[in-house]
Amino acid sequence: MRLILPLPGNEIFARHLAESGGWELGAIETRRFPDGETYVRILSNIANRPVDLVCTLAPPDDGFLRLVFAADAARSLGAREVTLVAPYLAYMRQDRRFLPGEAVTSKTFARLVSSTFDRLVTVDPHLHRYAALSALYTIPTETLHAAPLLADWIAAEVQKPLIIGPDEESEQWVSAIAARIGAPHAVLSKTRHGDRSVDVELPDLSQWSGLRPVLVDDIASSGDTLFEAACKLPLQGFARPICAVIHGLFAEDSYQRLLAVADRIVSSDSVLHASNAIRLAPLIAAAISAARNVPRDIVRHRRPAEPLDEVERAGIDSFPASDPPPWTSGVSRTRTPVPRQGKGDSAT
Ligand code: R5P
Repeated sequence: MRLILPLPGNEIFARHLAESGGWELGAIETRRFPDGETYVRILSNIANRPVDLVCTLAPPDDGFLRLVFAADAARSLGAREVTLVAPYLAYMRQDRRFLPGEAVTSKTFARLVSSTFDRLVTVDPHLHRYAALSALYTIPTETLHAAPLLADWIAAEVQKPLIIGPDEESEQWVSAIAARIGAPHAVLSKTRHGDRSVDVELPDLSQWSGLRPVLVDDIASSGDTLFEAACKLPLQGFARPICAVIHGLFAEDSYQRLLAVADRIVSSDSVLHASNAIRLAPLIAAAISAARNVPRDIVRHRRPAEPLDEVERAGIDSFPASDPPPWTSGVSRTRTPVPRQGKGDSAT
């Protein structure tokens, strides 16, 4: 049976995923050593099983090394296949060198993930200059789309909606969502001057006066895009908008700022947040189940489970490292080593 393993902060999503697929929910123990290094221990039996590590990548940096350690541990303990389930995939927006000398982090991050996992499952990655994840990632990837779920939420919750995209890039979302629920849509025009500086201009929307504006975007990060758009709509006589996003990152105080100018804010649960209203686990579970029939030869980076080395055979008696390990003739300064009975050893 598949094993779903949550990284810290992803326990709720992982439980929903395990429930949706009828799979086992496992556990990882992790903590920081006093020197800041990371300890990882997989508490579930994973030998010969497909393992899904659930870790949304927002914010990405702090937990990334821990994720790599967990994936590598899973593989070395004999997992049949190690998949990264990242409902939000980070580092998709710096997809070119906008200024001389910049790191193109999309490519570097993709290389790191591709060398760590056998497969990646994610939802609506920010594909702007790349048409598909396969242009960046060298492992099999599954790109899922939450727009239909957003559309269904709007249809159920909002009377007479006008679907509005805050920038030209969002045309793809808003047209698909509007078409699915038979609502009109409009697209605004955005100019970004910097990380926290955005201008949004509205076309003449008077033909839709009386409709309920619903701003739809893939990501709310600084929240400035939605904030600027939400501030401008009342200038054309509209009510405060509903904001619906797939990935609610909501950095710093952006959520509170947006709440002041929006009627309601909703997001999918790709990133755990108070605005979560749309569950993605059933979508991801269905995709994982469907992928069961994928031929095994797509699985990369396979290697057999590593045999126990002498440190593992010695077990906890060799810890901490400042104690002489029991297979040496040294004497522990802090405790007497417990004699171990093992292959080739004799109890003394
Ligand atoms: C831009 O291309 C995206 O679709 C979003 O509009 C953007 O990432 C939102 O960023 P922020 O919340 O920082 O304005």
